[in-house]
Amino acid sequence: MIDPRLAELLDAAPGLRLKTGPADLEHYGRDWTRRWTPAPLAVALPGTVEEVQAVGRGANRHKVAIVPSGGRTGLSGGAVAAHGELVLSLERMNRVLDFDPVDRTLTVQAGTPLEAVQEAARGHGLQYPVDFAARGSCTIGGNIATNAGGIRVIRYGNTREWVAGLKVVTGAGEVLELNRGLVKNSSGYDLRHLFIGSEGTLGIVVEATLKLTDPVPQGSVMLLALPSFEVLMQVFAEFRARLRLEAFEFFTDVALRHVLAHGGQAPFAGTYPYYVVTEFAGGDEATEAAAMAAFEHCMEQGWIVDGVISQSGAQAAQLWRLREGITESIARYTPYKNDVSVRISAMPAFLARAQALLGQAYPQYEVVWFGHIGDGNLHINVLKPADVDGAEFVAHCEQVTRLLAQALQEHGGSISAEHGIGLVKKPYLGSIRSPEEIALMRGIRRVFDPNGILNPGKLLDA
Ligand code: FAD
Ligand code: MLT
Ligand code: ZN
Repeated sequence: MIDPRLAELLDAAPGLRLKTGPADLEHYGRDWTRRWTPAPLAVALPGTVEEVQAVGRGANRHKVAIVPSGGRTGLSGGAVAAHGELVLSLERMNRVLDFDPVDRTLTVQAGTPLEAVQEAARGHGLQYPVDFAARGSCTIGGNIATNAGGIRVIRYGNTREWVAGLKVVTGAGEVLELNRGLVKNSSGYDLRHLFIGSEGTLGIVVEATLKLTDPVPQGSVMLLALPSFEVLMQVFAEFRARLRLEAFEFFTDVALRHVLAHGGQAPFAGTYPYYVVTEFAGGDEATEAAAMAAFEHCMEQGWIVDGVISQSGAQAAQLWRLREGITESIARYTPYKNDVSVRISAMPAFLARAQALLGQAYPQYEVVWFGHIGDGNLHINVLKPADVDGAEFVAHCEQVTRLLAQALQEHGGSISAEHGIGLVKKPYLGSIRSPEEIALMRGIRRVFDPNGILNPGKLLDA
């Protein structure tokens, strides 16, 4: 027998699809965190904005919580449904709606995968520059809800920079058209920016108008081997001073070993403790000469001990795979993930502090360091040994995260650089936001979602 609340939804929106089978509930109820047991009431798959509104109205009437759901590649539990919620998947709303060559914008439905947006932009001779390894599965709606970063933030910024307009359905069921693709619009509060990074707590993003930019001519990718953590920021400063960097990412030998265990070729005959993948635009002689000058200077200083530069697009992709394959290669260890940031100027001091702290805190666990070091963003992944109980492991890591949050506070940093707060980082929100800010955030949430139906328990408690 169908739940009467779901039957009512289907009456109100006959085109709506609903899934209630156990395999679907499990599939749609979790994200990449794998820490919570999925237990949603059902999965609603609307095909139109009106159907999204109908789901919202039904949820408000019956006080059923909604979990907005994109590709569920999130790493902080934002799309988890573990308490009888209605998952609202944007999966069927995945079309490119419009391209405007004069405005250089692409309007898409929120369930469009990031990679499809990138391809559509390329098809028009332009570029959508937000990029990261989950591109094939994550959606624009999820990217906007988390203000996703990725591997090219150093050059292009986060998702926020690329959103020219949004259509959203608020928790109260109103449809809002925010900013309408305007470049300039000085007309009061820019509500568009409130929705970016709101983690599905204010409304459901149903459409986005995205800015596009000129494509970058094929550049070069370099893999650099470093002898120590201490020289990382010196190498960064040297390369940044001489080149227009498209990316500057780092990882440790521990990370590389996990990636290579999944296939691929070791980049060097020997092994080194730290690596950097950097990409810079321009295949011209002047750029090549600047890259060689940066490389040689770092070698002379002893900051780099080995290096390789791509000679083709295929080689560039191979070098990138060493960095981009990390998350997938360690997923089977259900890693406890820290995603932290400090200002670039604070990075040397913070790195020293974090290394000392985590070295002491985790003598028994393997810790994988990598990240977008050129943005001041470190990913620290603690791997769970097979024989350690999951809850005990998380409890230990939570204790260490408390110390890390303190260290971040002292260095002016954030406990969540790009993955969002969700469920995972909620206990530490107070380390980056003041009580006054949190109280205002709660108030804003109530304005957009008066009955508290949107993603309750995520980001902030009511
Ligand atoms: P989901 O996981 O489905 O949802 C994320 C949050 O957004 C949830 O709170 C959900 O409720 C909300 N939401 C989803 N859709 C909507 C909508 N339409 N309206 C309102 N709220 C919505 N992240 C980075 O920032 N940088 C990286 O480099 C990066 N690399 C990754 C690599 C891998 C291999 C993986 C698995 C993940 C990576 N991530 C990265 C994390 C993740 O891909 C991003 O957070 C992404 O933006 C999530 O998109 P999604 O569609 O999967 O969202
Ligand atoms: C990355 O930079 O690869 C992602 O943010 C994913 C992760 O942190 O695991
Ligand atoms: Zn990242």
